[in-house]
Amino acid sequence: MSDESKEIKLESQGWTRRKIFDAAALTSLGVAATALTTERAGAAPQEGKKVEDLEDFKYDLEKQTHWVGPGGSAKEATAEEFPVSQSIAGVSMRLDPGAIRELHWHSLAAEWAYMIEGRCRATVITPEGQADIADFGVGDTWYFPRGHGHVLQNLGPGPCHFLLVFDNGHFSEFGTFSVTDWIYNTPPDILARNLNLPASAFAQFPKKELYIGPGAIPPQTMEPYRNADIEPGQSNHKYRMDTSPAKNFPGGTEHLVSSKEFPIQTTLTAVKMTLQPGALREMHWHPHADEWQYVLKGRSRIRIFGSHGRTKTEEFSPGQVAFIKQGYGHYVEQLGNEPTELLILFNSGEYQEISLTNWLGGNPVSILETNFGISRSMIDQLPKKEIGIIGKKA
Ligand SMILES: [Fe+2]
Ligand SMILES: [Fe+2]
Repeated sequence: MSDESKEIKLESQGWTRRKIFDAAALTSLGVAATALTTERAGAAPQEGKKVEDLEDFKYDLEKQTHWVGPGGSAKEATAEEFPVSQSIAGVSMRLDPGAIRELHWHSLAAEWAYMIEGRCRATVITPEGQADIADFGVGDTWYFPRGHGHVLQNLGPGPCHFLLVFDNGHFSEFGTFSVTDWIYNTPPDILARNLNLPASAFAQFPKKELYIGPGAIPPQTMEPYRNADIEPGQSNHKYRMDTSPAKNFPGGTEHLVSSKEFPIQTTLTAVKMTLQPGALREMHWHPHADEWQYVLKGRSRIRIFGSHGRTKTEEFSPGQVAFIKQGYGHYVEQLGNEPTELLILFNSGEYQEISLTNWLGGNPVSILETNFGISRSMIDQLPKKEIGIIGKKA
C-alpha cells in the first residue's frame, strides 16, 4: 500500500492528517503509535462504545447543615460536596442582627454576593491600600477580587441572608484566611512587635477562628476609618442588580451584569432571570464559561445535552443549585403558577451565548434541507433569530 493510500484509509477511520503526521513523528522517536489509537479525531458516532454517563448537576444547597453558631449560619456547595462544580462554589449565609462575618480574605477566589433578605455593610481593603465601605440591601450585589480583605456586618433590624458565589469550586478548603486564625497562630512576641500591645494582651484574643460572631448593630451612618488619612477606594465593589435596566423577552426578563456594566467584576458574569409561568428559556450553550444557577423562587426543569446522545433532566425548587458545564446544550422550562426567579453565574467576566434559533437563522436553506432531510416549507417556519425566553404556549 502506498503512503498516500495508507493515509486515505486512516482518514476514513477518523484520523486527521495532523494525527497521522504526529503519529509518524512519534514512531520515528521510538514512541509506540498504538498509544495514540485511543485518541481518535472527529468524534464520529461509535456504535456500541460505552461513554461515561453525565455527572449529577443538581445540589440541594439549602437542605445542608454546614456551619451553625452564635451569630449566624453558612451552607456550602464546593467541589467537595458537588463534584461537577469545579469552577464555581456557592455559600448561603445568614447573619443575626449586628453579627459579623469576621475580617478575612480568599486566597483562591474572588467573591460575588447577592442580598436576598435584610441589610448588610461590607468594608474592604485593596492592594493599593485603599479602603471601601458600602451598605447593601435586597437586590444589591458585591464583588471582591481574589485576595482583597473584607468583613461583613448585619445592619439590622432583622436577620440578613445572602448568596455568596466564588469563581473557584475549591475556594473553601485551605482557601479562606481569617484574621483570628492568623493571630492565634503567631508567636506573641512577634504580635507584640507588630501590633504594639504587650505580648500578654494576646491571651485575650479568640483562641480559634471566629468565622461568624455576634455583635451590636452598628450606627446607621457610616463610621470613619480608624486611619483618618486612608485613601478612599476608587474601585466601587457594589452594583445594584435589581434596579439596573432589565432586558425584556416574550416569556420573562433578565438583568445581566458582566465586567462591561460592573468593571471590577472581571471573572464572573451575573444574571437575575425571571421566567413567567409557562416560559421556556430557549435551547442554547455558552462557548467559554460554565453556568451555575441558584433558584430564588418558583420551580424549573433543566435538560442538559452532553454529546454522544447523553442527556440528563432535573427539576429544581428554591434553594437548589444547577451546574451546566461549558459548551453543554441546555434549556430551562418554567414550572408552576408562580414566576421562577434564578440567580445565574458564569465563570467569565465576558458573557457569551449561542442559541439554536440564531444558529439556524445563520445558515442557507439548502444546508438545513440536506442536514435535516426536511422540506423547504418546514424550514421556512423555523425561527431565524434568538428569542431568549419564549412565552407561554398560546
Ligand atoms: Fe469572603
Ligand atoms: Fe445558559
